[in-house]
Amino acid sequence: MKLYTYILVGMLCCAEVMSAADNPVTITTPTTALMVNAPEGGDLRLVYYGKNLGADGLGQLLETRNNLNRSLYPAFGDVTGGETALRVIHSDGNPTTELKISGVEQESLPDGTLTSINMQDRHYPFYVDVYYRSYDSSDVIETWTKITNNEKKPVTLTQYDSGTISFYRGDAWLTHLNGSWAAECNMVEEPLDWGMKVIKNKGGNRNGHGDHPEVMISLSGKPREDYGEVIGAVLSWGGNFKMRLDSDNNSVQTLFAGINEEAGEYVLEPGKSLMTPPLILTFSDEGKGGVSRNLHRYARLDGKLQKGNETRPILLNSWEGIRFDVSQEKMDEMMADFSALGGEMFVMDDGWFGEKYPRNNGSQGLGDWMIDRRKLPGGIAGLIKSAHDKGLKFGIWIEPESTNSRSELMEKHPDWALQTKNRNPHYGRGGTQLLLDLCNPKVQDMVVNMVDTLLSNNPGIDYVKWDMNVALSNYGSTYLKSDRQTHIYVEYQKGLNNVLERIKKKHPDVLFQACGGGGGRVSYAMMPYFGEFWVSDNTDALQRIFMQWGMSQFYPSNSMAQHVSEVPNQCTGRVTPFKYRFDVAMSGRLGLELIPSELTDEEKDMAKKAIGEYKGIRETVQTGDLYRLLSPYDGGPVTSLMYVSPDKRKAVFFAYKLQHFNNEILPHIKLTGLDPNKVYHVREINAGNRKHELDGKNVKGDVLMKAGLDPRLYSEYASRVLEFTEI
Ligand code: GLA
Repeated sequence: MKLYTYILVGMLCCAEVMSAADNPVTITTPTTALMVNAPEGGDLRLVYYGKNLGADGLGQLLETRNNLNRSLYPAFGDVTGGETALRVIHSDGNPTTELKISGVEQESLPDGTLTSINMQDRHYPFYVDVYYRSYDSSDVIETWTKITNNEKKPVTLTQYDSGTISFYRGDAWLTHLNGSWAAECNMVEEPLDWGMKVIKNKGGNRNGHGDHPEVMISLSGKPREDYGEVIGAVLSWGGNFKMRLDSDNNSVQTLFAGINEEAGEYVLEPGKSLMTPPLILTFSDEGKGGVSRNLHRYARLDGKLQKGNETRPILLNSWEGIRFDVSQEKMDEMMADFSALGGEMFVMDDGWFGEKYPRNNGSQGLGDWMIDRRKLPGGIAGLIKSAHDKGLKFGIWIEPESTNSRSELMEKHPDWALQTKNRNPHYGRGGTQLLLDLCNPKVQDMVVNMVDTLLSNNPGIDYVKWDMNVALSNYGSTYLKSDRQTHIYVEYQKGLNNVLERIKKKHPDVLFQACGGGGGRVSYAMMPYFGEFWVSDNTDALQRIFMQWGMSQFYPSNSMAQHVSEVPNQCTGRVTPFKYRFDVAMSGRLGLELIPSELTDEEKDMAKKAIGEYKGIRETVQTGDLYRLLSPYDGGPVTSLMYVSPDKRKAVFFAYKLQHFNNEILPHIKLTGLDPNKVYHVREINAGNRKHELDGKNVKGDVLMKAGLDPRLYSEYASRVLEFTEI
């Protein structure tokens, strides 16, 4: 239903207090409001984004001219000297654009509102529509643009951001994630100072290893977990992105966010449009924790994270245990042992396919998705039967966007890999890995058919780990026209989305994990198709605490795949206690990645108990509200976090020792998020020899939150998990 169109907008909101030309448009969520001024024939300007002040309060901002008053989608030509969100070379070569508002519409949707603000160039039939989509069930507003060329000839977009958000400088701080393979999601916090801060990715097909397109901007000084005004902004795009935080040498700073335009000029044919990816915005005055919870709630909405409001099975993945050394006997043994521990699903990782080029290492076979019968004579059906006989579900690893030069696929279709004209190929993993050309519809069909055949022929596959181990480093498509090669970054993502959409339609029940050579595919853009992310190939419990903390800023816990692995850890060589590894993995989606038969009897016993306990706390951990209590990034000896069920009847508390020194001062930790009036029964989970003193006691929420508790972490790599249940 349409709520109102252009002229009505001004009349509905604060008619008496505005100047004639003003046209305030308000977008609200349960507790936030975003207000723009969209006068017909004028410029689109941001008035306010923050706590909802009500119609009167918002009206006063415009009336008194006490507002941000920042151009919302500045185009090159419209602004002189300042940063821009859009740059267009028009069909006659004019490099400037002047956008003026031509209409506003607001439409009510079942769970929110869609606002579109239409703009047109003063001279050219060139249009930009700015969209805002708000949600009633989460404090999130998405914004994106539709850029349309109705000129007689093509225009070239040399910059095409999704949107901007401005804020007062004050003492603004930035929280963002960076890192690299096996060290993903490292959290950085820094003041936003003069000049411009740029966060970007140029990997082409995945953007979770280095800089992430997810930021928080704390408006009232150093970022705090539980208080202070914070804006959260996430660009839902899986390819090259750029986020610029520009001070513009004045009192207002602006975040510009969009597809990274570098080496990506996009030509729009007459009559064609480009939709930019959504920039997801949220605001909280309850600190970073508030922003995280808003985003987690949003991710769990229908249509966002796949199966977003469901819990995940406890799985054993074969990779760290046996690598490429797949065989029916080894799989059978792992499955039987895992089943005895109470596991729920077995996932066969890499190494199961290839005929002429068997996948015995990383240098061959990708693209040849036929089972290697030398390793698995009973085929996938045999594995599924074996899993089901042992009471386990079955999952499988694939990497469908990639190939190796040593593959039957490349012998048949050498033009299906991305390749640069007159240049030697850049190979990835194994010295032979190449990225397939998903710009090409034939390649898209091939990938869809491959995955569809695998899943249709084997309805017992309940889970797919979809990996992506090579960057887009060969800049050329045999499918795209020679003068459209710069579309490769955008067309690759569109092709990938098309593939994923088609597979999702056919196999909606299969749970997909996005892996990108570790955490390379941790991205909101992947969410509609993937229910979880492989956080990192680094499973060292101590380093994982830091990565999981970083990722939790933006991603809900049921999307974070956390596995208990062997020691010394395969990445860091560190030896941590079995309990510590379990306690760390149990704060997200628990899994195992080791050979169960290699565990000692004592470890098996502990694993069985921990898996059993996890089933009891899974709901709270995976679908509850996250409260981070003590950050590992603060440099102290202990870190702690907790989850509280939405009805506040259950909570689970985790605390981990990070450093160990003699006579160190250990923190007393105040819990958050509990109901102060409820009385909770405390039970320690995975308890060691010395149980926590609160185990078995009943304590009031108020006491736990005001007086706190001592986690009693006296030894190196000590950890505690406490469960709180309302009595
Ligand atoms: C990537 C993934 C690993 C594993 C291997 C298999 O590195 O991150 O978890 O699946 O590929 O080759």
